[in-house]
Amino acid sequence: MARSRIPPEALKENALSGASRALRADLKRLEEMFTVTDKQLKQITEQFIKELEKGLSNGGGNIPMNITWVLGFPSGNEQGKFLTLDMGGTNLRVCEVVLTDVRGEFQVTQSECRMPDELKSGTPDQLWGFIAGCIGDFVEQHHLSPEQPSGKLPLAFTFSYPVTQLSIRQGILQRWTKDFDIDGIEGHDVVPQLEAALKERNIPVKVVALVNDTTGALVASAYSNSEVKIGSILSTGCNAAYMEECSSVAKMKGDGVPGCTPVAINTEYGAFDNEHKVLPLTSFDCAIDESSPRPGQQTYEKMVAGLYMGELLRLVLLDLHDRDELFQDQDVLRLRQDHVVDCAFLAKIEEGTVEDISKAFNDMLGIKPSAQELLVGRYLAELIVTRAARLYACGIAAICKKKNIRSCRVGVDGSVFNNYSLFRERAAQALREILDWPEDCEALVTLHSAEDGSGVGAALIAAIGLERLKGKQDESS
Ligand code: BGC
Repeated sequence: MARSRIPPEALKENALSGASRALRADLKRLEEMFTVTDKQLKQITEQFIKELEKGLSNGGGNIPMNITWVLGFPSGNEQGKFLTLDMGGTNLRVCEVVLTDVRGEFQVTQSECRMPDELKSGTPDQLWGFIAGCIGDFVEQHHLSPEQPSGKLPLAFTFSYPVTQLSIRQGILQRWTKDFDIDGIEGHDVVPQLEAALKERNIPVKVVALVNDTTGALVASAYSNSEVKIGSILSTGCNAAYMEECSSVAKMKGDGVPGCTPVAINTEYGAFDNEHKVLPLTSFDCAIDESSPRPGQQTYEKMVAGLYMGELLRLVLLDLHDRDELFQDQDVLRLRQDHVVDCAFLAKIEEGTVEDISKAFNDMLGIKPSAQELLVGRYLAELIVTRAARLYACGIAAICKKKNIRSCRVGVDGSVFNNYSLFRERAAQALREILDWPEDCEALVTLHSAEDGSGVGAALIAAIGLERLKGKQDESS
């Protein structure tokens, strides 16, 4: 077989033309289910703006709009040496970041390890013990020793889950997301839990800042380009952060910070439309929600983020198999396993050659698809990812409209954004439709790979926080 990429325009026709009547009817039905028109995108964005506003009010709403205590962007004069720790959905990264005395310059030394899947549903001791162990190994390998008088190495901890923060160095976990399910942490401050595990192991480290990955992406990206107004993550989960004036954050009133001070808001907008008012949910989305550890939560995230796109494709393929329309003579045992299909599989079958797609089906699912089935699989991936990309654009557009931002850069991090070019193109096209730019006008809100948020971004946030604390202490002495 020649190594050929299937031209996208031929995709739908090819997928449909050789299909049986029943399969054709089902593909048509699926197309209707997964298509989001420009009119719907605009309605969703309007509802999104309302929910962002409600989240800032005293009563709150679906979207938490968490106050991060990151009060403004870095000046470029921040200095110091910080450990940073990133606990994302999949990997754990420990870095030492040195912000040098040359304005805007930094050095990063890092090590990364995969978090064992069992930790996601284990005990708090297992989680914190594993993390403390990784920090301890890093400190030992790099012969790091604390400076006096504190006797502790300062750590900026990127903990990418929704937390309530009363200061920058604490965070009460509101709820687990991304299918984490560890009892005994929700409703508690995660900082003392990690510090206790460090103390038990005699690791001289103290948390000086608790940071969300979106806030880190925002700060790091704005540090290198002042046109960045939004930081976003599109990876296992999906979320965004932006700056709000303190006076617009009703729940912050009375906190003694001047009203004109900017504060980074970690929107946690994965929780958008938990009331199911506007999102075009399908039976497959409902099935994903019901089988997740937190049904009813993160409705938007479950339609957009990497953890769920592969699962959607799996459920759709399985449904077609169970209707006797796909992989009839094949063993689909693996296809019946939850979450066996990941987002990288979708990127491979959408962006790869015919041989790549065939190999991906074989390697991941033990299925040898016919030429026709391969086209159908690919067409379904296109439907699912296009819907996710178009819905992803609604969150970004909603922040822009709410803040009257006509043009800006958005710093986006995460494996889905970085490794899926078709996702990026489709999201950019949807932004154009929602924000009504004429076809001949250049894009005004543009999506770019973020700078290192959980390393440099977190270190900068820690430096700003310590500087502020010092300022306060100087004032009171
Ligand atoms: C979390 C956010 C995080 C996002 C991306 C979501 O599940 O709740 O805190 O920013 O994933 O990692």
